[in-house]
Amino acid sequence: MISEFNHVSSFKTPFFFYDFDKVHDNIRRFSYFPKSMNVELFYAMKANDYPPLLTFLKQKGIHIEVASGLELQMAQKVGFDKIVFNGPAKTNEELELAAKSKNTTILIDSLNELETLQKIVSAKTHIGIRINPFSSTWSKFGIHKKNIKIALEQIASSKNLELAGFHFHAGSFIHDPLFYKHLLNQLITIIKTSPIHYFNSITFINIGGGMPCYGKIKRNTLEGLLAKGPIKNFLSESFIRSQELQHMKHFEKLDLNQWFKSFAVIISIYMSRIETLLQKKVKLYLEPGTSLIGDAVNVYAQAVTTKYNKVLLDVGSNIEYDHNNFWHPIYNITSPSDDIQKANVFGPLCARDDLFARCYFGKPLKKGDYVKIISMGAYTFSLHTSFIKSRLGVVIKKNNTIKQTVTGETFENKYSSFF
Ligand SMILES: Cc1ncc(COP(=O)(O)O)c(C=O)c1O
Repeated sequence: MISEFNHVSSFKTPFFFYDFDKVHDNIRRFSYFPKSMNVELFYAMKANDYPPLLTFLKQKGIHIEVASGLELQMAQKVGFDKIVFNGPAKTNEELELAAKSKNTTILIDSLNELETLQKIVSAKTHIGIRINPFSSTWSKFGIHKKNIKIALEQIASSKNLELAGFHFHAGSFIHDPLFYKHLLNQLITIIKTSPIHYFNSITFINIGGGMPCYGKIKRNTLEGLLAKGPIKNFLSESFIRSQELQHMKHFEKLDLNQWFKSFAVIISIYMSRIETLLQKKVKLYLEPGTSLIGDAVNVYAQAVTTKYNKVLLDVGSNIEYDHNNFWHPIYNITSPSDDIQKANVFGPLCARDDLFARCYFGKPLKKGDYVKIISMGAYTFSLHTSFIKSRLGVVIKKNNTIKQTVTGETFENKYSSFF
């Protein structure tokens, strides 16, 4: 067994480190559902589109959720056998591409989209309806409940479209699995108040993603708000640090197995109510992103400079989308210990909020020390920008073997096509 420090120090930092064995473990968490339930996983490609990861998931029997024509082409290239196509503003071109693909189910997001698709398709096509959940953050997605009846009527009277299922997605990091019951209750109301024949061809209920992972903490609203603004006064800084110190004490306590067990119980109760109303069995589709890949990827970096109460790393916080709203534990792996250091950990970018955390685990960092930032798998590889510094390379661990698959972006990769 190679020590963490040894395998890290043989690669040039900074880099993403993918642990495929961990992805495999994360897939197993979805096995708490009763055997009688037919559950299918559609990995949300947007969470992390690293191609070898997609191939690995396909080999494990996972299907795919895509949200653009580009992602659809990628899903086809990898060879996924079942695809669901989401997205709030699908273009005509994307709808045409999806309609041609036999193994793709389009999830209709608006009445406009429904109208366009009716004109495009010339043979029987199974579709789903994405229902708009109640939360305002996600209000641009899906068909509002006041318009669901219109959509149902149009599908029922359409020559070629058949309703195969319903879809919800209510955001990432749903801390309480009970939250899903609000979504499923909305669906129950829709079914109860509509003619039953509208649902004759239903085969699935898709409740999206939102399942958590280990070690990525969503900051509370005040903390997130303060972290986003200019770091201008001592009060907000000390408040955010006090919150981070709380996270450090508590983050290991999240019992993911318990979360997934409760999730399975709650969802199976509601699914059986829905099946009773529909008078038939239907599949449960889930679209995990974060819960499959979030904690299977760490970022390894080095301390480039230390200044009074500050450490500057060789990786910038632009590796994570929305980094101010999330906190990740950082460890000094050159000199590990259980100590907690109260020091700001910055990236090297010329940006005022290029700040990862206000504390870290281990002995005080010195120039050249290695750090790991954990649970950096979701909305990082697919979203990180090439701002000032290069995009990161990738090292993977699979069956206990470690190898580099992508080197960091070079001058040639980025600029040579312009000259
Ligand atoms: C429609 C849809 N499904 C699934 C996901 C994945 O969510 P998560 O990463 O919380 O699992 C997303 C993420 O935004 C999404 O938009």
